[in-house]
Amino acid sequence: MERRFEGAAKAVTPGTARSFPADGIEVLVCNVDGKYYAIEDVCTHDGAPLDQGRLEGKCIVCPRHGATFDVETGEALTLPAVIPVMTFDLRVEGDDVVVNV
Ligand code: FES
Repeated sequence: MERRFEGAAKAVTPGTARSFPADGIEVLVCNVDGKYYAIEDVCTHDGAPLDQGRLEGKCIVCPRHGATFDVETGEALTLPAVIPVMTFDLRVEGDDVVVNV
């Protein structure tokens, strides 16, 4: 199912990430040097919201215990997380981001 986050492409500037609600989940839209990625905004280690963490290149760092995830593949790159985060396909339409959730 597609969800349109109006203004997200403009609001999420390079090197930042922001969470948007969609059908009971939170989707984290990340801007890596002008390319956008979307993941579920929940750390697979213990449920922390990743939007409170730092985006370092293509990696988001969990604010609670420091696990890192690749925002393109969802892969858990460092402990204590071992399970990947869910990723979503998206496209940019003007200022909007359209995500398949
Ligand atoms: S909740 Fe994210 S590393 Fe523990």
